[in-house]
Amino acid sequence: MKEFEINFDYTDEERGETDFENRMVSTTYTPGDEESEVSLRPRRMDEYIGQDKAKENLTVYIEAAKMRGDSLDHVLLYGPPGLGKTTLSGIIAAEMGGNMRVTSGPAIEKPGDLVTLLTNLNDGDVLFIDEIHRLARTAEEYLYPAMEDFVVDLVLGKGPSARSIRIDLPKFTLIGATTRAGQLTTPLRDRFGVLLKLELYTPEQLAEIVKRSATILGIPISDDGAYEIASRSRGTPRIANRLLKRVRDFAMVQGKDEIDAEVAGYALDRLEIDELGLDNTDRRMMEAIIKFYEGGPVGLDTLAATIGEEAITIEDVYEPYLMQLGFIQRTPRGRCVTRLAYEHLGLRPPVSKQVKEANDQLKFFEDTEASE
Ligand code: ADE
Repeated sequence: MKEFEINFDYTDEERGETDFENRMVSTTYTPGDEESEVSLRPRRMDEYIGQDKAKENLTVYIEAAKMRGDSLDHVLLYGPPGLGKTTLSGIIAAEMGGNMRVTSGPAIEKPGDLVTLLTNLNDGDVLFIDEIHRLARTAEEYLYPAMEDFVVDLVLGKGPSARSIRIDLPKFTLIGATTRAGQLTTPLRDRFGVLLKLELYTPEQLAEIVKRSATILGIPISDDGAYEIASRSRGTPRIANRLLKRVRDFAMVQGKDEIDAEVAGYALDRLEIDELGLDNTDRRMMEAIIKFYEGGPVGLDTLAATIGEEAITIEDVYEPYLMQLGFIQRTPRGRCVTRLAYEHLGLRPPVSKQVKEANDQLKFFEDTEASE
């Protein structure tokens, strides 16, 4: 089998990182993540925890492709950031016995960049394109024949003397990752044979991931310590692994030889991450909807302007988890916070319209009686 190789061909800037990404519960890479993410990354399917549906189906497709002696059909992975799309892609490459090249939509500036990547692949390799929805249209058009017929057509020269040459490509698998499948053009989406949605992880699955990571990093941790971290990691392994390392710091300074629920709870409180994994930004967003818009509905762009975030960030990063908790609802008229959110924030939910009318009537009678 070929050596497993990952090449990161793009910079943080190209990933579109912004300042807010320095939050402790950011779902994108932050500077301290990179080295440990690689060592903590599971390499084979049987090490990968969670995403059972995607994993089971993929296992079948991989086995069938191997039985046919063929490459795996192109795969589109979609879902919120931090759930392990790159990791899963690396596992697919390893299981298929190929190498993986990693790039991203914004890193491919011109069609030539893509052609260079494609022509340097070998049979059975995986080309991973992160944020594939941000690929330039001109480059995207080169992908169609590459995905469908494993060829690229290059035009050499200009004007009447221009001629086109066809280059055969190896039988590769394209794995596209996106947080927004809806933004892919139809021709591109239609060329993926396998569409897999990644879901937020349950606290139980995250606790297993935390224990696995702790073992690799040599950090002693109890079951309830792992669960405490897991339940505050907003369904995201990248956050769980980051919090594990910060909790370890607190445990060390306190002279604890193991992370237990107590020190984990203490450390996460200090980091202002509450028992459900919400940080100040989440709370600020929900409080803004309550304070300025009476709990909603408020349009996404208005909300974004109110709290000084990008609408896309709200949609991709904050909302998925707040919706999973049942704290925010998306309605056709905008975003609303729910009764559960009020209760979590320690605020009194608004009285329903009927109750308010009944109270007003009562007050009216009381006032009338008092003045008689
Ligand atoms: N580390 C990050 N994601 C993981 C996963 N899904 N399974 C195991 N370890 C992980």
